Amino acid sequence: MKIDVLLGLQWGDEGKGKIVDVLARKYDIVTRFQGGPNAGHTLKFNGKKFVLHTIPSGIFTDGAINIIGNGVVLDPGIFKSEIEQISVENPDIKKCLKISRRANLILPTHRILDAANEAAKGKSKIGSTLKGIGPTYTDKISRNGLRIGDIELPNFKEKFDALTKRHLREIDSLGFKDFDLEPMNKEWFEGIECLKQFEFVDAEMLINEKLDQDKSILAEGAQGTMLDIDFGSYPFVTSSNTICAGACTGMGVAPQKIGEVYGIFKAYCTRVGAGPFPTELFDATGEKLRAAGNEFGATTGRPRRTGWLDLVELKYSCMINGVTQLICTKSDVMNDFDTIKACVEYEIDGKRTMAMPFDTAQDAKPIYKEFIGWKCDISNAKTEQELPQALMDYIKFIEDFVKVPVKMVSVGPDRKATIIR
Ligand code: GDP
Ligand code: IMO
Ligand code: MG
Repeated sequence: MKIDVLLGLQWGDEGKGKIVDVLARKYDIVTRFQGGPNAGHTLKFNGKKFVLHTIPSGIFTDGAINIIGNGVVLDPGIFKSEIEQISVENPDIKKCLKISRRANLILPTHRILDAANEAAKGKSKIGSTLKGIGPTYTDKISRNGLRIGDIELPNFKEKFDALTKRHLREIDSLGFKDFDLEPMNKEWFEGIECLKQFEFVDAEMLINEKLDQDKSILAEGAQGTMLDIDFGSYPFVTSSNTICAGACTGMGVAPQKIGEVYGIFKAYCTRVGAGPFPTELFDATGEKLRAAGNEFGATTGRPRRTGWLDLVELKYSCMINGVTQLICTKSDVMNDFDTIKACVEYEIDGKRTMAMPFDTAQDAKPIYKEFIGWKCDISNAKTEQELPQALMDYIKFIEDFVKVPVKMVSVGPDRKATIIR
């Protein structure tokens, strides 16, 4: 069997959690392969709502094994509170969640460093979620990190103390004083005790064994392609490879073992945090999208920036990821728009281009194609035949533009509000 990968194609929050929850029924195993608690993946079913940060969105699917891969960075305190939330719905969680020994740990001082770095940047700050993501991946790459497997070693506390000491020197050199480490450390070690109740595995071995046994695996991306450390709008990005290739390094699977690549996009665009966003709307239309789409961060509660769909960006993301099928979410948010726009070219220094520029901040002016809105409520639609022609025309244009078929249309946050084409 091959491993299927689901990825966000924009700036995150495309609805990955919802769609993984829908697809998970078809899979034996669901994995996360990068990112950490900067992610907020929302699931809605049976009148309940869950927001997952570290734990794969297959956790509510009967019989599915969930694996946190080596590419993930894990904060024990946040992990513990997630487990407490999920246990109410799934008391068997300890049996169906496994964690890679190679995943890196987020320390309390990583979170403080994140805040100190952002404060030092002043106006040019990234708008990080302040979960310690950048500093943790920095330590991983500079070979100073602490990993899940270290918890099993006798000198774990010594390693923790040494790294904390090192961080404190760095925090001091940044002149950052706004923190109280003791309660943070207490909460962290309580989280470590919670973690110890779960099985730590050599996940790359387990995943490859399961593939050899013909088990089906779905890998759940976090963030989105435009937040990728290499191909996103650098430096306004996260610190991991959010793209399909990240699934190989974040789980230990070879590229030829990747099967379907599901690319998920909103029918418009949002971004939270700083950085370029060519189709951003600063007017009443942007406000209308934010209100209708309830566009507030699932992790930080910050209002999300909103704008029209950017097809130059979407096509670039399909190329980078090798997307084999598209999933369109949140078209129901545009039920009440007379007209809808999508960017089909950028104009930079008076020249039109369909290429993604090195720096989208350099005033990439969007050139739009206009569509007629559908002006009806699609949120109860159950089949493609019930969708209005104007929406089908919009989808057809997207498919022709990026040359990838749209196989699924999501018309609401609930598990059931999903149309398979
Ligand atoms: P993720 O990070 O990609 O998992 O996405 P988030 O959970 O951060 O944000 C997506 C938001 O949109 C959540 O509040 C979802 O419940 C909601 N959502 C997902 N799909 C749809 C949809 O098709 N229509 C509407 N109206 N909401 C949706
Ligand atoms: P999900 O998985 C949206 C953004 C932050 C910030 C930048 C860097 O829910 O789609 P970081 O904390 O990673 O150092 O922040 O990336 N960001 C996200 N935006 N959805 C996410 O995850 C995000 N994770 C990080 O807002 O601009
Ligand atoms: Mg999210």
